[in-house]
Amino acid sequence: MNNVKIVEVGPRDGLQNESKFIPTELKAKFIKNLHLAGLKNIEVTSFVSPRAVPQMSDADKVCSSIDLKKFNASVLIPNLKGMELSKVHNFNEVCVFTTTSEAFANKNTKCSLSDSYDRIESIFKNVKEGQKVRGYLSTVFGCPYEGEISLDKVLYGTEKLFSLGCYEVALGDTTGIGTPDKVQKILAKIKESFDLSKIAMHFHDTFGMGLLNVHSSYEEGIRVFDSSAGGLGGCPYAKGASGNLSTEDLCYYLNGLDIKTSVDLVKLVEASREIFKFLGKPSISKVNQYIVRTHDL
Ligand code: HMG
Ligand code: MG
Repeated sequence: MNNVKIVEVGPRDGLQNESKFIPTELKAKFIKNLHLAGLKNIEVTSFVSPRAVPQMSDADKVCSSIDLKKFNASVLIPNLKGMELSKVHNFNEVCVFTTTSEAFANKNTKCSLSDSYDRIESIFKNVKEGQKVRGYLSTVFGCPYEGEISLDKVLYGTEKLFSLGCYEVALGDTTGIGTPDKVQKILAKIKESFDLSKIAMHFHDTFGMGLLNVHSSYEEGIRVFDSSAGGLGGCPYAKGASGNLSTEDLCYYLNGLDIKTSVDLVKLVEASREIFKFLGKPSISKVNQYIVRTHDL
């Protein structure tokens, strides 16, 4: 299989951790330009508690400012309230999330692991006809509070998300501590029990391992990757974790394998340019930095 699906999570995972509030119009423009750059699957925002993640407090307005039918738009939701909001905006896809770690569930969603599965179950009971549900399993490579995570917990979480009805499960390296060797070991076990075409990898690039981990995953047979434009990102409940693997780096890597991505790299860099200027910082992506230098952006 020579086809790779890219899930752009920049507008959600990329922005959620930024403390400076980004105006709604800028977020909406960012999303529109990501689509124009050729990205087909975009997680546009999250319907979460505005107290927990203030940057996402304008999610409703963001969704009203864009045509969500132009691409495969998804939204991250933690509970039934998020589900109801997703219906207001006619989302065909919602993303639910849980973790391998009791402590992380408590910090991130103020509930136990078991309650997090109950919440997901209640979300499934309320899906509208044709609405797809993607599942995230966080802290697969280790937890900022509990440390080492056993493979059994990874297998358990993956199994739970599929059995509840998720069409795809993204394995999250929330803090970016994974290494290619660990990726290989986890995926070797995962593929004994699950169809790898339904598994996505969600890497953060804290220690610069993002692309190496993609390579290891690709070799194991993974063909779905999450990434964020310019490598924006981080999780408010994973201190020190930096942005997601950048979409630019991912596309450059895939281009090297002769895999068509439909993404125009220059347009992609232009899409996040105003966000980086507003935040007053450069992108961490080498590919992004090169394009900025060579195109005077
Ligand atoms: P809680 O405080 O127990 O919730 O938090 P609550 O039900 O008491 O509600 C608190 C307030 O939030 C209320 O507003 C609710 O209406 C509102 P108030 O009455 O005070 O004005 N509220 C909502 N508003 C909009 N949409 C909603 C919603 N729900 C409640 N859906 C809760 C529990 C789960 C809500 C909270 O902890 C929360 O929102 N957590 C989400 C945290 C988050 O977004 N974390 C980052 C995403 S996960 C991640 O980044 C990892 C990932 O990228 C994968 C990886 O890297 O591994 C996915
Ligand atoms: Mg993440």
